Amino acid sequence: MDRLLEKHGFDHLLVASGVEKHEFLDDRPYPFKPNAQFKAWLPLTRHPHCWIAYTPGQRPVLAYYQPDDYWHVPPTPPQGAWVEHFDIRVITDPAEAVKHLPTGGRAAILGEADAALPGFTPNNPEGLLAALHYHRAYKTPYELAVMRLAQRRAVPGHLAAREAFKAGLSEAGIHAAYLAATGHTDLDLPYSNIVCLNEHSAVLHYQYKDTHAPSRHRSLLIDAGAEVDGYASDITRTWGNGDVDFEALVAAVEDEQQALCARVKAGVDYRDLHLECHLRLGNVLRTLDLVDMDPAQMLETGLTSTFFPHGLGHPIGLQVHDVAGFTDEAGQLIPRPAGHPYLRMTRTLEPGMVVTIEPGIYFIPTLLAKLKATPQGKAVDWRKVEHLASFGGVRIEDEVHCTDGKPENLSRDAFAEA
Ligand code: GLY
Ligand code: MN
Ligand code: MN
Repeated sequence: MDRLLEKHGFDHLLVASGVEKHEFLDDRPYPFKPNAQFKAWLPLTRHPHCWIAYTPGQRPVLAYYQPDDYWHVPPTPPQGAWVEHFDIRVITDPAEAVKHLPTGGRAAILGEADAALPGFTPNNPEGLLAALHYHRAYKTPYELAVMRLAQRRAVPGHLAAREAFKAGLSEAGIHAAYLAATGHTDLDLPYSNIVCLNEHSAVLHYQYKDTHAPSRHRSLLIDAGAEVDGYASDITRTWGNGDVDFEALVAAVEDEQQALCARVKAGVDYRDLHLECHLRLGNVLRTLDLVDMDPAQMLETGLTSTFFPHGLGHPIGLQVHDVAGFTDEAGQLIPRPAGHPYLRMTRTLEPGMVVTIEPGIYFIPTLLAKLKATPQGKAVDWRKVEHLASFGGVRIEDEVHCTDGKPENLSRDAFAEA
């Protein structure tokens, strides 16, 4: 930190946690989500109007907002292992923070514009911010320990969701079972759970949860995480219900997913892994007689992107999609392979990074219709595709920690422990 502040010409770093936002023309607050750069310092996730002020060589100051609020539960007095590392000043009015922020010198102020205090408007210096984002990709032992806990918290939810699917519940019912098992409410999930029955699995980020159960439960795709001290997990599982063709597809995607997880090694360019994923999924399409074409040709003609239109994965940590997956330390774009606009990670893997590996094969009506109209469409067995389309699609997603040696699959380890 000291090196970066000096390099970018700053004497102080100020970080605002953020403010509660309200609905337009209303007094209803949206759920509070803190500045990730604030969470990088402290495990405080329900704490608007707090500020960290750091000057190299000095103990960081924390202006800790604890109002006398009888409408809501105010934050508890500061507690936890972190307390001894901060010079804590409790404030009861957001404006009081000013008294505890450094005057004089050049300050980098990180935060949203609406967090501004008089004289302390966030400037979010581009170069410094890019470097901080960049370095967040390398997790410390503390961060890895918390991320393992976030995995463990999600696993009972996934097991409960599977049971709820087998019991014939609706998407909303499956979601409720997930929440109960993880001890989360909707608001403290790291992202809105994606709970898809049948054809809904073809919508990559399906945002609804039907309260009525369908007449038949063919498939469940659930993409759901958990949060511990501001760190996210992001796990996807897909379950079938006895259909031989769909079960074979799920098993084949899972085999490739596991092979890709094993490839998370220092020195591997994630872009190459993404392209390797396309070839592997192309091989699945061919082996299951869905497409009669060489996988390399499928990749070249863009055919695999019809069935796998998103990226292999992304860095994860304080944000589900941790920023700086495709920028270098200076914030310069590390280009994506041509024709792969949604890839969120283009960096070379290094020890300490945690990335998701989330291949999928989907039957998305609009993309299939476009493929059908091309010459490549002739290579597709449309009867088989039509049958599988009633299941929506498959995605399998784990988090993998890149080490000096064997990769650590955080998600699989948590499932094995459960
Ligand atoms: N849950 C969103 C994603 O997997 O990236
Ligand atoms: Mn993901
Ligand atoms: Mn996910």
